[in-house]
Amino acid sequence: MCGIVGYIGEHQASDILLDGLKKLEYRGYDSAGVAVRNDENKISVVKTKGRIKFLKAKIEEGHGLFGTSGIGHTRWATHGEPSEDNAHPHASDDFNVVAVHNGIIENYDELKAKLIRKGYSFYSDTDTEIAVKLIDYYYKKYLHTPCDAISKAMVRIRGSYALAVMFKDYPEEIWVARKDSPIVLGEKDGEVYMASDVTAILSHTKDVYYLDNMELARMKRGSIAFFNIDGDEIFKETQKIAWEAEAAEKGGYPHFMLKEIHEEPRAVKDTLSSLLKENEISLERLGISDEDLKSISSITVIGCGSAYHVGVSAQYVFEDMARIPTRVELASEYRYRNAPLDKNGLVVVISQSGETADSLAALRKAKAEGIKTLGIVNVVGSTIAREADYVIQTIAGPEIAVATTKAYSAQLICCYALALKLAKVRNSIDEEKYVSLIAELKDLPSKIEEILSEEEDIKKLASEIRNAKDIFFIGREIDYATSLEGSLKMKEISYIHSEAYAAGELKHGTISLIEKGTPVVGILTQSNVYEKTISNLIETKTRGAHIICVVSEDKEKANTIADDLISIPNTAEYFMTSLAIIPLQLLSYYVSVQLGLNVDKPRNLAKSVTVE
Ligand code: M6R
Repeated sequence: MCGIVGYIGEHQASDILLDGLKKLEYRGYDSAGVAVRNDENKISVVKTKGRIKFLKAKIEEGHGLFGTSGIGHTRWATHGEPSEDNAHPHASDDFNVVAVHNGIIENYDELKAKLIRKGYSFYSDTDTEIAVKLIDYYYKKYLHTPCDAISKAMVRIRGSYALAVMFKDYPEEIWVARKDSPIVLGEKDGEVYMASDVTAILSHTKDVYYLDNMELARMKRGSIAFFNIDGDEIFKETQKIAWEAEAAEKGGYPHFMLKEIHEEPRAVKDTLSSLLKENEISLERLGISDEDLKSISSITVIGCGSAYHVGVSAQYVFEDMARIPTRVELASEYRYRNAPLDKNGLVVVISQSGETADSLAALRKAKAEGIKTLGIVNVVGSTIAREADYVIQTIAGPEIAVATTKAYSAQLICCYALALKLAKVRNSIDEEKYVSLIAELKDLPSKIEEILSEEEDIKKLASEIRNAKDIFFIGREIDYATSLEGSLKMKEISYIHSEAYAAGELKHGTISLIEKGTPVVGILTQSNVYEKTISNLIETKTRGAHIICVVSEDKEKANTIADDLISIPNTAEYFMTSLAIIPLQLLSYYVSVQLGLNVDKPRNLAKSVTVE
């Protein structure tokens, strides 16, 4: 959730840290801070509530921060409200230890009580200050080495953390440690960089090291050394990142979200191409054999937020096309429920970041039960990508806007490809159908382009509904799955209350909320339930609703009931979510813009939810 950066080299650290933090601001933006060590070994800390631009201004007001090593942090508050005191970096009272932290320390009460007994006092409400003072305590009590002090603290801390620590006595070093919160490090021409997210260091180096759980690293000018929790040195290989640094810039668009919506045709095309070989879905090179696919008795798709919604859509496709019993689970529920699990099933964990705490815990639970796991992940080298038995990489490039768009679309493609492959090897569709469905998939990018060319119409529609108190999204089957995502997009960036309903559920309670003028968006792309959803829409219209229909070209009856109609091209009904979601993403985008809200960084949200 929070973002951390570190640098040690020959250049002014504050410039590099601020640049990195700017790129990480999408991870948290309640407050920010940096600590920089100058040539006289003095560590100065500057912190502010709010955005990185305020931090930059404060540094400039103080006539700069000079020094060639430092750490920085952008915060998404967990313990303690957003404030300057609670902002990171945190320091021991004598500045012996200064650190930034990403994660949550669950036993902070117990550790705080211990430290108070040892004479420590606290100036903030954060769990991070406790970690800093615990490290300081062990440093002073034992051997006076950073590695020992941090390792001892790691053994005592329960929870998740990525820590970057500077010690007064070790001016040439920055130490980092990890448990369940990502850290990536890189070195180029003697300069050493560290961040919680690869996009923050991509403009400096594309050769990176990933720190694993319960490991430490020591950054020095020109070198990085890695250690296990026992303090033994370990060796790691670098991984090459294929993303271009420019991919994480706005590229002329006013917002990342709009840029990323416009990247969807490319993300869909590239993801599909990576799964096709000579017009066949090919998963063998991912290590998934036909025999593996034939032996699967069920699928459980797991994710959070939009990734979960991909699963809801995919469930209909896996079951109908490949005839495999499928469940979709919220990762936060799956991880704690004591349900009987299918040992011969496949658990598919979907995650853009590959770091979502609940999704990772769900993956680990399935693995611990001996169930095969498949990760559908966008961020290369992320924890889910490294821990899943099989991985399908979405080729969406870095996604910066908090509201996911292109990663969601790429994840759908992976599920469709998997469903097709399963259907083929299990003979639930014939060759002709298989070939025609692949052709439909290949046509999706140009159809998405076609929808994007109608952007101005969606913009006008946004101005009609932007002052609504509530907006409902309804549909049946796959259209219900699309409704869930359309509604989430709307509420997360417009702050308008919105709910998605399986259209048949309306009469069981929700219809009492419909008032004159309430926008109800009906998704109408599935033939077998089309008439049913139309009837449900009429019921809301009768009670005053303003009806907006998203319909595929051949479904004309909706014309007669809709106050506004969004017509989208046809494709195989299995894949309609890929098209129907595009106008809904644009609609939420324009509502948010017209309301003057922060589209890319909506209040209270962070891009990557790395704590429970
Ligand atoms: O990184 P993940 O795909 O695991 O993230 C899951 C959700 O946090 C994410 O999809 C969230 O719901 C989006 N902000 C929705 O736009």
